[in-house]
Amino acid sequence: MSDRIEPSSQATPLRVCVDGRSHNVKVEPRTLLVQALREQIGVTAPHIGCESGRCGACSVVMDGKTVKSCMLLALQAEGSQIMTAQSMSDDPIGAALQRSFKACHGLQCGFCTPGMLAAARALIVANPSPTEGDVRNALRGNLCRCTGYQHIIEAVLDAAEELRGAA
Ligand code: FES
Ligand code: FES
Repeated sequence: MSDRIEPSSQATPLRVCVDGRSHNVKVEPRTLLVQALREQIGVTAPHIGCESGRCGACSVVMDGKTVKSCMLLALQAEGSQIMTAQSMSDDPIGAALQRSFKACHGLQCGFCTPGMLAAARALIVANPSPTEGDVRNALRGNLCRCTGYQHIIEAVLDAAEELRGAA
């Protein structure tokens, strides 16, 4: 877990929209996006796992693309729109994914789940009819130590099917 960074005289203003709400905070030049989200903005859905870009637990959707928020400086998110798993129940695609993850047993401990949901949502927006291979490819940067992945893949495919039926 990363050390908390207290603001200093070098803190720089950051303006960012997270889960539909605008935030103006001050961050250190070295503050990671995941730290700013969790510690300064109060959005704790992105989890801190490896802090080196390997596990995907910190994944969020930034301006429509999945990013690992431990691999970006907070200041790189200036002016961006970020969606985290925290607001997905308010979003039709996110809500469908949450339902299907539950129905398909796509989670156990849940540590990887916010990152999985972010990556899966970005996939379905870009490709409403993904194949199993598309899902595996989209989630290849997200590790899960519990489920063996198959239930997660099925959950994403089921959500995409449900959403196509509703369209
Ligand atoms: Fe960001 Fe693992 S915490 S990829
Ligand atoms: Fe435990 Fe994925 S559900 S790490």
